[in-house]
Amino acid sequence: MNTKGEFPMLNRDIVYLDNGATTWKPQCVIDAIVDYYSNYTANAHRGDYDISLKVDMAYEGTRDKVQKFINAKHREEIVFTSGSTESLNMIVNGFFDHVLESGDEVIISDSEHASNVLPWFRLAKKKGIIVKYVPLDDTFHVTLDAIKRTVTPKTKVISLAEITNVVGDVRPIKEITEFAHKNNIFVVVDGAQSVPHKKTDVQDTDVDFLAFSAHKMCGPTGVGILYGKQELLEELDPINMGGGMNESFDNENAIFLKELPTRLEAGTPNIAGVIGLGAAIDYLEEVGMDNIFCHEIALKKYLIEKLTQVKHIDIINEECDSGILAFNVDGVFPQDVAIYLNKYNICVRAGNHCAKILKKAVGVKNTVRASLYFYNTKEDIDSLVELLKDRDKIMKEMI
Ligand code: ALA
Repeated sequence: MNTKGEFPMLNRDIVYLDNGATTWKPQCVIDAIVDYYSNYTANAHRGDYDISLKVDMAYEGTRDKVQKFINAKHREEIVFTSGSTESLNMIVNGFFDHVLESGDEVIISDSEHASNVLPWFRLAKKKGIIVKYVPLDDTFHVTLDAIKRTVTPKTKVISLAEITNVVGDVRPIKEITEFAHKNNIFVVVDGAQSVPHKKTDVQDTDVDFLAFSAHKMCGPTGVGILYGKQELLEELDPINMGGGMNESFDNENAIFLKELPTRLEAGTPNIAGVIGLGAAIDYLEEVGMDNIFCHEIALKKYLIEKLTQVKHIDIINEECDSGILAFNVDGVFPQDVAIYLNKYNICVRAGNHCAKILKKAVGVKNTVRASLYFYNTKEDIDSLVELLKDRDKIMKEMI
């Protein structure tokens, strides 16, 4: 894809293959943020003057863009947070904390990111809910069959990433949700690694909650989205109480909260970040989400073709259809591989990638991860593979 002039970072001599961690930003996103800070800085929802009204339009305009981007039914179903992590914590602590009872089961998987594990662990400790794991198949996928085998009459929630951040498997969310709803089970989706890469349609999949982050989809850091069906968000208690979200309060402790979504956005929001997210969505819509997904799949195929020709590389997740590839170089510690590649300006992530239970299924604790985005090219892959070909060189340079 020809994006060369559009991302300032692409003019640097860096091959960036760590898009699962964060993505580069196109100039239009940077410009939108600079424009807000340079030309109309004011708070949102509080001012009766022109530049504040302009802020409201831009901030609320982004909500409309997100609604359309994920095909939510109502704009009130879109809540701005600080990231996927905060969104997931709000879902667990603000909703499931009072909906679940001791002995209720929540199903997650071994390949979930910490943000979709630890909030549940805390709730388990607090309320006595039981966290269960759907078994992964030999290629690290979660199948509907495996879900069916794991669900019991006690199961109340299935909480899964749509695409996981290490093995990059794509979950059949629509089918899982259909089955879950027939059994009165809620479905929570961690969309941090899926929403930026493939078309998302929450009405089609019918998920109950969805969390994702702006910075993994060309937007700024510090902004996330919590989507929830309106009737469920109505039942979600605000974690933060403060300005902006209340209608009134008095000195007898009476509090009247505002309607959704403002009720869940206490304090001054990340205005610049939300405006930047709006620009990122415009940009992604123009590139086309289907084009993005196809490009990544083709590029990953090319990467696999090249890497399978290198004897000393163990590919972990060849059969997972997303732009994420985890691998190891025989006899070399993954972090050393990343440090070696960095010497040649190639950025990959190494380690456990915050998915600390996955080692059981994969059989190794740490991996090297190349995670692709639509601005990556075959040349990027060639540069990576060329450097990985010579194991002696890697070993020598690591001494
Ligand atoms: N969750 C991010 C990653 O997978 C940071 O790298």
